[in-house]
Amino acid sequence: MNTYTHIPVLAEPFIDGWLTDPDGYYVDATFGRGGHSRMLLQRLSEKGRLLGLDRDPQAVEVGRVLAQEDARFTMLHTDFSGMESALEGIGWSKVQGIGFDLGVSSPQMDQAERGFSFQREGPLDMRMNPDEGQPVSERLKSVTERDLVQVIRGFGDERFAGRMARAILKAVHAGEMETTKQLENVCFHSVPPKARHGSTHPATRTFQALRIWVNDEYGQIDSAVTSAMQHLAVGGHLSVISFHSGEDRRIRDLVEAAVHPCQCPREFPICVCGKTPTMKWVQKKPVRASEDELDENTRSRSAMLRIAQRLP
Ligand SMILES: C[S@@+](CC[C@H](N)C(=O)[O-])C[C@H]1O[C@@H](n2cnc3c(N)ncnc32)[C@H](O)[C@@H]1O
Repeated sequence: MNTYTHIPVLAEPFIDGWLTDPDGYYVDATFGRGGHSRMLLQRLSEKGRLLGLDRDPQAVEVGRVLAQEDARFTMLHTDFSGMESALEGIGWSKVQGIGFDLGVSSPQMDQAERGFSFQREGPLDMRMNPDEGQPVSERLKSVTERDLVQVIRGFGDERFAGRMARAILKAVHAGEMETTKQLENVCFHSVPPKARHGSTHPATRTFQALRIWVNDEYGQIDSAVTSAMQHLAVGGHLSVISFHSGEDRRIRDLVEAAVHPCQCPREFPICVCGKTPTMKWVQKKPVRASEDELDENTRSRSAMLRIAQRLP
């Protein structure tokens, strides 16, 4: 089950941005297959510690094996929005670095039965934790057309969101929306013929949107990144890789709110609201993959890394 691998993206800049002290305590909020975690452990001293989190039981299984091999590492099965209780549970109040490598792992995409990919025939599921919530095929049975348009437009930036939503719900009512290929087919035929053969497959954005929706990815990011900034020790780093513009905007805005918290009107000569910055950017303009990495790993094409530091 766990023979699928994941090549970590932006590995060097991500680790450089995450590690601030080899003796420190760190969190990998998105363990996946542990590519980034293993690299961080190589650079930690005997005193350093790393906590791995993931909501996917298969990722947790891999993490538990690593925890048996390396006493500096602990693995917990939780959504990253549960980071605060995870930290409380192991008795860490502040940490020196927290890393997020958002989105799905290659093993999730590559296993047809997980239902993430329109390139593989499988049940229309897309849950990162298959033991929680409902698969996409079930959620679609109770969504209104209006809400579905909002999901596809808001989370997928899909310009044909209205046509897609109508066609998807028609297929749902006909009992023909149970598999990835059925959804792919509906997406393909609901865009105008001249939009069917561009560089991006017509189903790409809708698959992304439904995945974000069914996993409440933005709700998770909002609560976890806010809590992560509060749990960083002074000088500690937040290092985040995102994979599409909606996700990256969210990270940027959450950090910006901590970098520029002052709410005084612009015309005020000095701040009177008393809200002072708690974070500063180390890397505001997103770091992108090098040409070499792009050649080796196509997943790195859309990766964007931002890094910020906790202030006193
Ligand atoms: C891109 S992969 C991480 C790969 C990892 N950095 C590596 O090198 O193997 C993202 C992982 O984050 C997990 N994940 C995504 N959202 C999560 C959430 N809200 N809470 C916990 N884990 C999450 C996914 O299950 C997936 O395993």
